[in-house]
Amino acid sequence: MPTPVNKPLKIILGVTGGIAAYKIPLLLRLFKKSGADVQVIMTPSAGRFVTAETLSVLSEKTVLTEFFNPSTGSWNNHVELGLWADALFIAPATATTIGKMVHGIADNLLLATYLSARCPVIIAPAMDLDMYAHDSVTENLHTLESRGVHIIPAEDGPLASGLAGPGRLPEPETLFAEFLKIMNPELPLKGKHVLVTAGPTYEPIDPVRFIGNHSSGKMGFAIAEAFKKAGASVTLVSGPVSLKTPKEVNRINVITAEQMREACLNERDKADIIVMAAAVADFKVENQADLKIKKSSHLTLSLIKNPDILQELGNVKSTNQTLIGFALESHDGLEYAKEKITRKNLDFIVLNSLADEGAGFGHDTNKVNLIDKAKNVREYPLLSKKAVADIVVKQAIQYHFSGIFADI
Ligand code: PMT
Repeated sequence: MPTPVNKPLKIILGVTGGIAAYKIPLLLRLFKKSGADVQVIMTPSAGRFVTAETLSVLSEKTVLTEFFNPSTGSWNNHVELGLWADALFIAPATATTIGKMVHGIADNLLLATYLSARCPVIIAPAMDLDMYAHDSVTENLHTLESRGVHIIPAEDGPLASGLAGPGRLPEPETLFAEFLKIMNPELPLKGKHVLVTAGPTYEPIDPVRFIGNHSSGKMGFAIAEAFKKAGASVTLVSGPVSLKTPKEVNRINVITAEQMREACLNERDKADIIVMAAAVADFKVENQADLKIKKSSHLTLSLIKNPDILQELGNVKSTNQTLIGFALESHDGLEYAKEKITRKNLDFIVLNSLADEGAGFGHDTNKVNLIDKAKNVREYPLLSKKAVADIVVKQAIQYHFSGIFADI
C-alpha cells in the first residue's frame, strides 16, 4: 500500500476524556496503516471511554498517561516527547483540554507535552452542542487557531446526550483525510498525474450529421478542476463541449469514441488516477457516408458497437492505479453500477440517475452515490456539480492512498 506521507511520521495521538474517544482505535489503525510511528498519550479521564490496552496493542507501544510510570517510577519526559513528534494530534479534544491549552495549564502529561511540542498541533474538538456553541469554547478555539493550532471542526449530527447538532467528532477516515491535508500543505496530489474524460462523443453519420448525447461536460470539467486544485497534473480528454478549460489543465479535444479511446490509451500509463466522466456513445454508424446523405422518406442506419474505453482501461489497470467510472442509469441504478464495478475492474463508481430531478446531463447540479468494489455505498444529496467534484476528488485521494472511502 502506498504511504500517504513521504516518510513515516512520528505522531503523538492525544486522547482526552470524551465519549467520542471510542472512535480513536480506528483512527490509530489508519495512522499505523499509513506507516506512521504513533505514541498515544491519554489524559487521566480518557481511560473511562477507551482502554489503554486497546490503544497499546494497536500502536505497538505502551500508552502514556502519567508523568511517572507508576510501576517503575521512571519519568515520562514530556520535553523529549514534544521534540520527538512530527505531529501532535488531539482527538477528541474536550472543552477542558481546549481551555487548559489556551491558558498553558500543564496538569497532565498530554498538556505538558503540548506546551513542549514544536511540531504542528491538530485538534478535533468533540462535546455536546451547547458546550461547543458556548462563547468560551468558541473564543478558546479562535485563540488556539490564532496561535497556529489546526482545528478540525466538529460535525453536525446525533450526540451522546440524545441531542442533535454540531459537536460530533468526525469519523476516523475524515480525521485521517484532514490530517493528510494539514501535513501535506503543498497539496495532497503533488507529483501525481490524473486523467479525466468529459463530455459526449459524436459519431458521424455523414459530413453534417452525427449521433450524440446531451452531455455538457460540466461534471468532468469540474472534476478536472478539483484535481488541479489538489495539486495533481491533469489531462482532460474532452468531447465536443463549449466550456472553458480549467486553469493549468492540459486539454485534449476529441470528437468520436475512437479518438477518445486513442487519447486515453496514450495517457493511461502515466496516470495515477483515472476518472471516466464522459458519456461515450455506445454505438457508431457502420458505414459513414463521405457525402451528405440526401433527404428521402426513409433512412436506415446500421450501428455497430464502439469500444468500451473504461473496460479496456480496467483490463490493463496497474496495481497503483485508481480507476473510477461513472454510471448513468434510468432505473435499478445500484444494481447496474455494482455490476459495472466488477466487470470493468474499477476501484469505485459514481452513480447518477436520470430519475433524479436536477441530476445527470446538462444541469449545474448532480445527485450521486459512490460505490466501491467492496460494494460500500456513500449516498449524497443534490449538490452543485462543483461540490460533487470535490467529493469525488476527496474520495479518490483517500481511496488512492488508503484503499477505503472517507466518511464524507
Ligand atoms: O456532462 P454533463 O452534462 O455534466 O453530465 C454528466 C454525465 C451525466 C455525463 C456524467 O455524470 C456521467 O454519468 N457520465 C457517464 C455517462 C455514461 O456513459 O454512463 P454509462 O453508464 O453508459 O457508462 C459507464 C462508464 O463507462 C462511464 O464511466 C463511461 O465513461 C464509460 N464508457 C461507456 C461506454 C463506452 N463505450 N466507453 C466507456 O468508457
